[in-house]
Amino acid sequence: MENPDFRRHRRLRRTAGIRSLVRETELTPGHLVYPVFVQAGLSGRAPIAAMPGQDRLGLDQLAAEARELTALGIPGILLFGLPAAKDARGTGAYARDGIVQQATRVLKDAAPELVVIGDVCLCEYTDHGHCGLLTPAGEVDNDSTLPLIAETAVSLAEAGCDIVAPSDMMDGRVRAIRQSLDSAGLSGTALLSYAAKYASAFYGPFREAAESAPAFGDRRGYQVDPANARMALDEVLTDLAEGADMVMVKPALPYLDIIRQVRDLVDVPVAAYNVSGEYSMLKAAAANGWIDEARAIDETLTSIRRAGADIVITYHAKEWARSR
Ligand code: PBG
Repeated sequence: MENPDFRRHRRLRRTAGIRSLVRETELTPGHLVYPVFVQAGLSGRAPIAAMPGQDRLGLDQLAAEARELTALGIPGILLFGLPAAKDARGTGAYARDGIVQQATRVLKDAAPELVVIGDVCLCEYTDHGHCGLLTPAGEVDNDSTLPLIAETAVSLAEAGCDIVAPSDMMDGRVRAIRQSLDSAGLSGTALLSYAAKYASAFYGPFREAAESAPAFGDRRGYQVDPANARMALDEVLTDLAEGADMVMVKPALPYLDIIRQVRDLVDVPVAAYNVSGEYSMLKAAAANGWIDEARAIDETLTSIRRAGADIVITYHAKEWARSR
């Protein structure tokens, strides 16, 4: 052969050992966060039809869940709540004995080292399903929502959340949360902002699981248009300027280019959320025998890491960690 390098790639893929030595991307359970839905008044578990293999959990399930995650080497859990009752102001989100506040205390008792991340949003707690308060005309009122978002973050931090993660997408929420945390003496609580959160069809199964679909309209006014990249980067820079410690891109697979661009733009940790629709799509194809499930999961999570995510939030966390 004229070019001696011509067979290099074959040589470097010849055995599992060589492939391991030249592998560029590492995926371990230590990179994963597992999202969980906690339901008030539920004892035991209730399957989520649109997310095969995922359940809503009662408070009585959480100690065992925490121990399982710890045993699997998964360091983080992300909490969403289904409250006993909903109202126009999303009171359940910032109630001292709200469902996620209670869940956090149970988890911290069972496994103090588990990183508990509280999702900060009103949509699971409002009777209209929007992420903020509504004006009489039915528009989401950005500024009057901010104090409630900040109050939610403080109550989650007081309950013991290590990280608060605002997903409501109101402008100015990161600054409002940081200021409220600091003045409440909670300066040690980290803030992971859903900075580049797209208005995505892939949240469908989540909205069924969390009963948080908007009763009218959609979220296009406060979530990023899927056609836009620069706008997402601007959201990231804004959130960092307001005091975010880490930023998130969401969903993950349709936005791997955004994960890469954010990774190249900033030096803080980047999280990516492999969302409910991505999960359910893979599960549906696997259930039909159309793809090799274990390989598809591994490839999915590895790709998200390769794109530049430090942290991968995924409903596949436990099954992937178990199958290693
Ligand atoms: C709440 C929130 C949503 C998700 C996380 N936080 C839904 C939404 O914006 O409608 C979606 C997560 C998933 O699909 O797994 N604002």
